[in-house]
Amino acid sequence: MAAALVESDSIHQPVYCNSVPQFLDNNTDTASFPLPIMSPSAAPCSAGPAKEGLVPGLSNSQIAAVSSLKPAHFDLSKVIRPNILSLAPYRCARDDYQDGILLDANENSLGHSLPQGSSFPAFQASHDNAGANGATSVSVPRTGALPKDDPLQLHRYPDPSLYNIKPTLASLRQLPDESYVMLGVGSDEVLDLLQRVAAKPGQDAILICPPTYGMYSVCAAVNDLDVIKVPLNVEGGNFSLDVDKILSTLSASPQIKLIFLCSPGNPTGTLLSLDSIRRTLDYRDWNGLVVVDEAYIDFAEEELRSGKRSVDASAVSLLKEYKNLVVTQTLSKAFGLAAIRLGICYSSPALIQILNNTKAPYNISAPTAHLASLALSEAGLTQMRSTVRQLLSNRDALISSLQSIPSVGQILGANEANFVLVQILDQQGGKPDSKRAGMVYKIMAEQKGLVVRNRSSELGCEGCLRITVGTEQENERCIQLMKDLLSS
Ligand SMILES: Cc1ncc(COP(=O)(O)O)c(C=O)c1O
Repeated sequence: MAAALVESDSIHQPVYCNSVPQFLDNNTDTASFPLPIMSPSAAPCSAGPAKEGLVPGLSNSQIAAVSSLKPAHFDLSKVIRPNILSLAPYRCARDDYQDGILLDANENSLGHSLPQGSSFPAFQASHDNAGANGATSVSVPRTGALPKDDPLQLHRYPDPSLYNIKPTLASLRQLPDESYVMLGVGSDEVLDLLQRVAAKPGQDAILICPPTYGMYSVCAAVNDLDVIKVPLNVEGGNFSLDVDKILSTLSASPQIKLIFLCSPGNPTGTLLSLDSIRRTLDYRDWNGLVVVDEAYIDFAEEELRSGKRSVDASAVSLLKEYKNLVVTQTLSKAFGLAAIRLGICYSSPALIQILNNTKAPYNISAPTAHLASLALSEAGLTQMRSTVRQLLSNRDALISSLQSIPSVGQILGANEANFVLVQILDQQGGKPDSKRAGMVYKIMAEQKGLVVRNRSSELGCEGCLRITVGTEQENERCIQLMKDLLSS
């Protein structure tokens, strides 16, 4: 079957194919084999391997890979909104032609407008075509224009290869290839996009397990979705999933299209067991996506690497088995690159293709991609791991100092991330005291110049402050202030 090419003058507009999905993505081998062509409304009702073929842009080998995954009852074509399922990947002339005089994309032919002599981050690729992670990178200079002053080719739209960060991330997480990886402007963009592709505004719902990260509900409010809550088991600060309650809620509420699980949790700092995630993935009486937000996973992974924990931490390992699983990660935490806004989504190639068909073109900037490629190089990973080890050691010291303060109660959760959740007790030193926690929080922020997070109104977090692990000096200052305030 010949691939249909839909040319769009504006490369920023996704191309809609209302009735017949067209297979347009150059990254894939779509042109060489027949794919089932059906309108989403004509999707087969029964589960079967052909249903992944409804996703425009998915290759034959990807369809085969996805249809071999569990669970058998899961039908992605019924989870994704029909208008999204029919989106074809957009194409621009640059996907086909990268060299020569490039007058196709209305870029500024005279180059960027940064003042002369502006400094650029160390850039090795401009002359030898090799990205910092050793991968082949953009073909620069494409026009011979300004390679020295514009090593990142800032006047061009980002090259789709993005310095090969997707294959690098796939191999870092032991996934087969980049078809399992999608990139977003922080994981926040991914979390929002997942809701947008799967849940119909004003009709559908998401399920969350409080206490948890606030953005799931913020995105749901923006997307006009209901939020159904099944709290974590919070007794004793253990923070585990109440799987039985989750499953019965799913059965009772078919409008739930996505579950958001946070592991390690924010603000709980606690990993969810992979067994409890598996039970949710296997549940036959529900057809939706299980999203595991692993923004803090590299802190737990480092403990695994150093032998301090023995059980697998990341749900990424389950992606080889399950097609209803999505895992999000970020370079904002362990990699220390919150400013560049790079979030990562790992899932089956079918869902990844849908997300790529839906996201804005060029959502990842060239500077971001270049900096990410440096962070993901061997040297970058070594640096990240060493920083994480230092933070873990600072965390342990912070915890033991906190425990020596009389009005400090339990440190809740399992401390698997770069923060601690600490209870402030009343003056008698007996019960958690949210009012006192609020007082400490406010005085530290407004009078002492040290800002932590007041989480005392969160379920199971009575009297709790969440303290990000700082440098040794920052932690000492925090401890000193808390001692002073709590002794008065
Ligand atoms: C649990 C959790 N998920 C996602 C994010 C957002 O991360 P990003 O910076 O990648 O958007 C945060 C940020 O604090 C977080 O705590």
